[in-house]
Amino acid sequence: MAYFKNKRIWITGASSGIGEALAVAFAASGAHLILSARNEQELNRVAAACGQAGALSVLVEPMDLGAHDSLPVIVDKVLKKVGKVDILINNGGISQRALAADTALDVDKKLMNINYFGTVALTKALLPSMITHQLGHIVTITSLTGKFGSPYRSSYAASKHALHGFFDSLRAELVQTPIKVTLVCPGYVRTNVSIHALTGDGSQLGTMDEATDRGMEPAEVARKVLRAIEQGKEEIWFGGKEVLGVYLKRFFPTYFSKVIGRTKVR
Ligand SMILES: NC(=O)c1ccc[n+]([C@@H]2O[C@H](COP(=O)([O-])OP(=O)(O)OC[C@H]3O[C@@H](n4cnc5c(N)ncnc54)[C@H](OP(=O)(O)O)[C@@H]3O)[C@@H](O)[C@H]2O)c1
Repeated sequence: MAYFKNKRIWITGASSGIGEALAVAFAASGAHLILSARNEQELNRVAAACGQAGALSVLVEPMDLGAHDSLPVIVDKVLKKVGKVDILINNGGISQRALAADTALDVDKKLMNINYFGTVALTKALLPSMITHQLGHIVTITSLTGKFGSPYRSSYAASKHALHGFFDSLRAELVQTPIKVTLVCPGYVRTNVSIHALTGDGSQLGTMDEATDRGMEPAEVARKVLRAIEQGKEEIWFGGKEVLGVYLKRFFPTYFSKVIGRTKVR
């Protein structure tokens, strides 16, 4: 897409899944990329694929979204190298596969620290530069569980709901600037998200959910996200029949509670 040519695009969670698919899609559109996640080796693999796909440049910048104090330092470093960032894609995150009653409070805090506070900390570190340059688009990948709760996802859903509260408010604060805010709410996407998800004691689940395995392909998600950014959408939802949950929750909340409680979500 010509819209992304020459744009400087920073993607978190770029080492796998949706972030990797986004990186390759932006690369094919002739963007400059900054790729972040914890696993530098995987980032380098994705960077090589982006180079082949047509990226004008690729900067690998490892980051741990849970290490909040390090994020402003990383932002300074990136801005010194690239000058300004046109699009920030807040995609990095971690899921949960445990009942609330079985989840240690430290695990609840870890999910919030990475998914919510890490995303907020990175955004707040980059925002002054966007305001100075009077440009920017902040895109955050939340989830349909940012729109409704689901069994086995209590703190994951809480972190994604919290992102909606933060970014809806930020959008309102930026309404008189050219800076745009987009929230992306995917349903099931076939990535390693369940393999990486935390169980109640904080260990990784290590297995692929049936529901996730039947999900959308990450490349299809990337196409939808690029279109939403170009069209300046405030929020998009997509997925399989789980999208119906958004409407049921809104118009028939009591019925929805019964349905989601009986649905196989893993
Ligand atoms: N797959 C789905 O069904 C689905 C549905 C709705 C929303 N989402 C959301 O989509 C986003 C991407 O997930 P995915 O499905 O692509 O899963 P994934 O393959 O597990 O990718 C998650 C990405 O987040 C990064 N990450 C995890 N913890 C991090 C940390 N502490 N600091 C920095 N980066 C971290 C991972 O990289 P490192 O391990 O290298 O750090 C990885 O690149 C997540 O926010 C997820 O909640 C996924």
